[in-house]
Amino acid sequence: MWATCCAYHFSKQPYLPTQVSMAVEKSPHVREQFDLHISVLANEYQVSTPGARSPSHCGLPEQEVPYIQPLSLCFGSCVIIRGRPNLSFVNDPQLQVDFCTDTDGDSGIAFHFRVYFGHCVVMNSRECEVWKWEEKSDHVPFQDGMPFEVHIYVRHDEYQITINGERVYGFGHRLPPSSVKMMRVWRDVSLSSVSVYY
Ligand code: GAL
Repeated sequence: MWATCCAYHFSKQPYLPTQVSMAVEKSPHVREQFDLHISVLANEYQVSTPGARSPSHCGLPEQEVPYIQPLSLCFGSCVIIRGRPNLSFVNDPQLQVDFCTDTDGDSGIAFHFRVYFGHCVVMNSRECEVWKWEEKSDHVPFQDGMPFEVHIYVRHDEYQITINGERVYGFGHRLPPSSVKMMRVWRDVSLSSVSVYY
């Protein structure tokens, strides 16, 4: 048998499944080897076969929102959020991601990313409890009822954001990424995974 899976994600939380189920099929070359990589990430083990693409969803238990996780960033880090809006766009759902410089989550936010599904995306920072200059885009390539995958790359000069593989936004650093201590992902979404790569 040889594995034909691409990649699987499951949380390290103890009540969640600890077994990885893979699509396998019989090969005439029963001794053929395959590589299976198990990576220990910030909030999950990631199991993959080399060269495989990561699927958006694996039918896994959802992360509760608000999803809060300690976070330290450096240049080259990447945060990947997989989920779906849990309301139809006619009900104006939102997604919010905050990279906070304090663990209370209110005083300092180095990067605030707020999606008004079907309408616009707003990005901003919050310094000394004051919202700064808001950057807004009307390009919102999320689809009603469909899963999404948001990547936030920490580049030297900005956060670079892709939605479902499309590079869409940039937000120049106002506070150093190294000042970020905590991440919060919340509002009207169901989350299947939140991963941090260094
Ligand atoms: C405000 C909103 C805040 C934040 C900010 C961003 O209107 O109340 O939660 O999204 O905009 O500029």
